[in-house]
Amino acid sequence: MAAPTLYISRLLPDPVMTAARRQFQLLNDPRDASPSWDNVKTGLREADAAICTLTDLVDASMLAEATRLKILANYAVGYNNIDLAAATARGIVVTNTPDVLTDSTADLTWALLLAVTRRVAEGDAYVRSGDWSGWAPTQMLGTDVSGKTLGIVGMGRIGQAVAQRATGFNMRILYTSRTPTALERVPSQWEPRTLPDLLKEADFVSVHVPLTPATHHLIGARQLALMKPTAFLINTSRGPVVEEAALVDALLQRRLAGAGLDVFEHEPAFHPSLRELRQVVLLPHLGSATLATRVRMGMICLENIAAVVAGKPAPNQVHAA
Ligand code: DGY
Repeated sequence: MAAPTLYISRLLPDPVMTAARRQFQLLNDPRDASPSWDNVKTGLREADAAICTLTDLVDASMLAEATRLKILANYAVGYNNIDLAAATARGIVVTNTPDVLTDSTADLTWALLLAVTRRVAEGDAYVRSGDWSGWAPTQMLGTDVSGKTLGIVGMGRIGQAVAQRATGFNMRILYTSRTPTALERVPSQWEPRTLPDLLKEADFVSVHVPLTPATHHLIGARQLALMKPTAFLINTSRGPVVEEAALVDALLQRRLAGAGLDVFEHEPAFHPSLRELRQVVLLPHLGSATLATRVRMGMICLENIAAVVAGKPAPNQVHAA
């Protein structure tokens, strides 16, 4: 029997591509660039299974033509790029890649938090500029992290992993969570708060909610106004969860001390003023970007596809809320 056909929207790490070619009949030769909408549409129309990434917007019109497609494995934990209701209505299984990217995303959150509070990117640029003339008692003074209060917005897997790391910095943890089931492993000393209370009390606010209609602009002008002027905002979730223009206003008016952003509202575009602000650190959506994690994400996609084409349940099927 011929191997099932697979469309992969863009080039994945070598071990994943090798495994994909071994198990399936690859319909395309994916490139290391974002495919056109038409390319994705054709791929989904012709394949039995597909791997898409968070930059591929899979809408209802695309799915309407995907009559052979059994499974759409999203190469990400977030799946806001897919019209899940339309896929479900057509009997297409949608899967994601939870767990395997929790640690790398939590690590990157901490890299951003420390970089912005201790002015790491700014210091690196200063040394490279050749202008540095030596140590000085008042040079590039930053903000202490140890012993302060960290507010986690969204206590899912990644939020918990970020909080876990904070215990090494002797921090107090506040959190918000919409889903009590995610809280089984939350230590009793971590303190639940409403979002407004968390924003008022925290020295650092780190956002870890999925992007849904309910979380779009969850952190907007009103919420930013509640934060301390000495506080920092870190976002490694999805850009549209934070209202970027309102964040820029708060930073420009010094109503907020700084921000670490791995994601942007209209990626890869970002608010032009962010480029000028020294108190922000900007990263190109690197949350899960380690080789080992990206390989594991690909292997999970392939495992889910193998299950579905064999008529078995997908281990990581996602369901509409
Ligand atoms: C995800 O999996 O949702 C991440 O943003 C990918 O890096």
